[in-house]
Amino acid sequence: MRSWVFFLLVCLGTVAAPVVSAESCENFTGSTMNSGNGPKASWRTDYPSNPSVSASPWLSVDFEADPKDYMNAVLSQIQAGFKIDGDRLVGTGGEDWWISLWMDYGTSGRERRMGLTKERGPRQSDLAPDSPPGYQVWAVGFYNRAGAATLGEIFENPCSASLPVQVRFPRETVSIKFLFTDAEPSEVTYLQGGPEFKALIDPTASNGDPEDRVERAVRLLQVDIAVKDRRAAETGWVFGTFGWVGPQTGDGLFDNLVPVSLQWGDDPGVYNTDIVESWINPSLEGVMYGWPERFTLGFKGRANGPADNIRSSCISCHSAARVPRSSRGLLGSRFNMETDILDPEKVMEHVDTWFTNRSGSQLFTPEEPARSVLDYSLQLDAATFRMCRACQAGDLEGETPQICRSAGFYNRQQCASATREKESAGLLDAPELSIQKSLRVIVPPRQ
Ligand code: HEC
Repeated sequence: MRSWVFFLLVCLGTVAAPVVSAESCENFTGSTMNSGNGPKASWRTDYPSNPSVSASPWLSVDFEADPKDYMNAVLSQIQAGFKIDGDRLVGTGGEDWWISLWMDYGTSGRERRMGLTKERGPRQSDLAPDSPPGYQVWAVGFYNRAGAATLGEIFENPCSASLPVQVRFPRETVSIKFLFTDAEPSEVTYLQGGPEFKALIDPTASNGDPEDRVERAVRLLQVDIAVKDRRAAETGWVFGTFGWVGPQTGDGLFDNLVPVSLQWGDDPGVYNTDIVESWINPSLEGVMYGWPERFTLGFKGRANGPADNIRSSCISCHSAARVPRSSRGLLGSRFNMETDILDPEKVMEHVDTWFTNRSGSQLFTPEEPARSVLDYSLQLDAATFRMCRACQAGDLEGETPQICRSAGFYNRQQCASATREKESAGLLDAPELSIQKSLRVIVPPRQ
C-alpha cells in the first residue's frame, strides 16, 4: 500500500513539474564560454512558458509611413532590459530577453564576457569610406517573451533540441541583436565617444581556437531588430537596424542609436534602385553609405546595416532560414559587385534568386527537401548546426539528437564519444569517425 502511495506521488510530481527551464545541456563539454578567465555573461535561458507580452507600442505605428517612430517604439521596449556594467553590456536583472542555447560552440562560438558570437568581418570601406579590412564584428542576439516561449519548446531537452517541421513564432515576437566591433574610432568616426566594452575576441580577423582569444576593446556599432508583424503581408516580418552615432549624448548607449534602415519586403523583380519596401535614413548618406565601394547599404538600396554585405538585405538572408541550409547557402556571395553589377542579366538572376518575398513557413529552394523551415530565425540554424557538430566531434555525449539524424548532419545513433569508446575497445570499425578531440569546428560566420 505504502509503495502505491509513493508511486502516485512520484507520478504527480512528474506531471506537475513546470515545463520551463533549459539551462545548458549537462552532457556538453565544449562550451566556448569556458575559454579564458574573468567575468562571465549570464543572459537568461530560463525560457517562459507563457508567450504573452505586456506591451507592443509599435503596433499603433505605421511602419511604412513612420519608420523612425516604429523603430523607436521597439527600442523603448529594449532599453529597459540592458545596461552598462563597467566594461560589459549586461541585463538589468529579470529582463524580458532570452538568448538561444547552443551558440557557444566552435570557432565563432560565444565569447565569455558578453556572450558574443563572431560575425562576418567587414571588408575594406564597408564601415566608412576609408575603413581598412581586418576588423572583427561580434554580436549577441535575444528574443522577447513571445519568441522565447518558442525557444523553450525547442530546447525543452537542452541536450536534444527538437525542431518542428515549421517553426512559427507567435504574433508579438521581437528579436534583437547588438553588434560590436574592434574598429578604430579614428577610422570609423561615427563611433567616436562610444562606450568602450571589453570582449574576448580573436587576435586577428581570421577564426582561431577559442582558447587563444584575447581581451580587446569593442564598441557598439549596430543594433538589429526583427519584429513579427502581420501588416508586413508578404513576409510577416519587419527588419531594421540602428547605428551608434557619436558624439555621446544622454545615456551614451540607447540615446545614441539612430535608425539606419527598415525593411518589410525584399522588392522582388526590382532590378534598379527603385526600392519601395525598404526605408533608408537619408541623413546617414556619406556617414554609413554613399561612397563608391558602399554606394548603398543593401543590394540596390535595400535595407542592411553597415556591418552587412552589400550583396544582400536583411530579409534576403533571413528568409532562407531552414534546416539543413539550402545548397545555395544564405547569400549569393559569388555575385561580383564590380563586374556583375554592370551586367543586367546577372543582376536579374541575383535579384530573382535572392530577393523574393516569402512567409516564414515557405521554404527557400523548395526543390531541395528540408527537415524544418525556421520562420526567419538564423540562430536556430546556427544552434542546430553547432549541436550536431558537437555530437559529431565528441563534445556532446549520449544519444545523437534526432534532428541531427533526420537533417542528415550525423547519422550514428550515439554521439562520437560513445562511438570512440567502442572503437578503442575494438567493438566498432569506423575509421571515418576517428575525430581527434582537438578538432575545432569551423562554423562559417555570416558572409
Ligand atoms: C548575410 C546574411 C545576413 C544578413 C544580410 C543579415 N543577417 Fe541577421 N543574422 C544572420 C545570421 C547568420 C544570424 C544568426 C547568427 C548570429 O546571431 O550570429 C543572424 C541573426 C540575426 C538576429 C537574431 C535572431 C535570428 O534570426 O537569429 C536578428 C534580430 C537579425 N539577425 C537581424 C538582422 C537585420 C535587422 C539585418 C539587416 C539590417 C540582418 N539581420 C541582416 C545573417 C544575416
